Amino acid sequence: MQQKLQKVRGTRDLFGDEARAFRAIDSRFAEIAKIYDFQEMETPIFESTQVFQRTLGEQSDIVNKEMYTFIDRSGDSLTLRPEGTASVARAAIEHGLLREPPLKLFYSGPMFRHERPQKGRYRQFRQFGIELIGVDRPLADIEVLNFAWDFFVSFNMQSKVQLEINSIGDRASREGFKQELVRYLQKYQKDLSEDSQKRLQTNPLRILDSKEATDQKITESAPQFGDFLNDESKSFFARVLNGLEKLNIPYVLNPRLVRGLDYYNHTVFEFTTTELGSQNAVLSGGRYNNLIEEMGGPKTPAVGWASGMDRLVLMLEAPPLTGAMVAVIATDEGGEGEALLLLSELRKQGIPSQPIYSGNVSKQLKKADKRGCTHVVLIGDKETQNKTFLLKDLKAGSQLELNKNQLFQSLQDQLA
Ligand code: HAM
Repeated sequence: MQQKLQKVRGTRDLFGDEARAFRAIDSRFAEIAKIYDFQEMETPIFESTQVFQRTLGEQSDIVNKEMYTFIDRSGDSLTLRPEGTASVARAAIEHGLLREPPLKLFYSGPMFRHERPQKGRYRQFRQFGIELIGVDRPLADIEVLNFAWDFFVSFNMQSKVQLEINSIGDRASREGFKQELVRYLQKYQKDLSEDSQKRLQTNPLRILDSKEATDQKITESAPQFGDFLNDESKSFFARVLNGLEKLNIPYVLNPRLVRGLDYYNHTVFEFTTTELGSQNAVLSGGRYNNLIEEMGGPKTPAVGWASGMDRLVLMLEAPPLTGAMVAVIATDEGGEGEALLLLSELRKQGIPSQPIYSGNVSKQLKKADKRGCTHVVLIGDKETQNKTFLLKDLKAGSQLELNKNQLFQSLQDQLA
């Protein structure tokens, strides 16, 4: 017997309500992007492995254990993109787009990470993201956060999410902090979780956002970023927070927020929710002033975020199916040509309409009702000769013989 074919673990088939919710989210993001003057960029879903390897951090979880990396038939090492920022930076450098900042880009599409699948965490997932490139002022951080907030408000989700924000300062501040943190954690080395013991050597900052209770107890009294920020970093962060207050965007300071990617500095943030269990980040990002230069481009500050659309879908009700639909039924062979023409004209006018593909007339009427049609147009020999149409209102149970103008007028009025 043939083995049943199934989707790969951690991937999802989208259809029905979820597919509609996805479409609604994606369109809303794109609408807001337009209002904020962000332009779309689409990069390939695979890149040279190098695009991600150095930029995201050799010791980051993504690079260490989650990338889908493979050698292709030309012998090149390629990686399915685990995120969008490095790809956008690569493309901006490659196409010389950085000469006239600011560059304001958005993207939407699938990302791939070999993580342990669970609710809200998949191996192929969709992100919508924005990058505001070339502006070093806090205004840019505020703008991208305002965009995110507008999105949540537009779906009336503002009470379901919380903006957590932190500053990890510039590189100098971070190095000072790192040393102090390692000194502190070394005292408790034996009590740290196995993962955190390893991270103490490779990526100590990540211990701060460990989900293990033992680690959390230890890090509760660990040194805090805020105490190590130099004056410049402190004042930058204060201006970001002032902007949020001015705009009435609520936030909580989270001194342990460090983020899992290496390219960040200064502002880092996450919109979290209590509705999804442990996979609680629905939108996250921050400032990355060194990434573009490290990738071989000119020194260019930038800030952005990405949102996990699969997680948003779990929190949103799907928009209702578009209600009104017109079914066009030819009651005999003589009506078939007219029915075809009518369908084509209805669709040109933007009136959702469909044929019913099989069955006698009474079966077709039943099927039209089942498919959610509110109106049926019947056309047979008689109507063709008279140049008329029989319009049935399925809800009211009424019917009218109309000429073409009257038919369109009537449908426009009733379906508007
Ligand atoms: P990230 O935090 O790795 O950041 O991912 C952003 C968002 O993608 C997360 O907040 C989450 O909603 C979603 N996400 C991540 N992994 C998964 C998964 N396995 N399944 C479902 N959803 C997931 C970035 O990717 C950065 N590139 C964001 C950024 C843009 N920073 C600056 N610009």
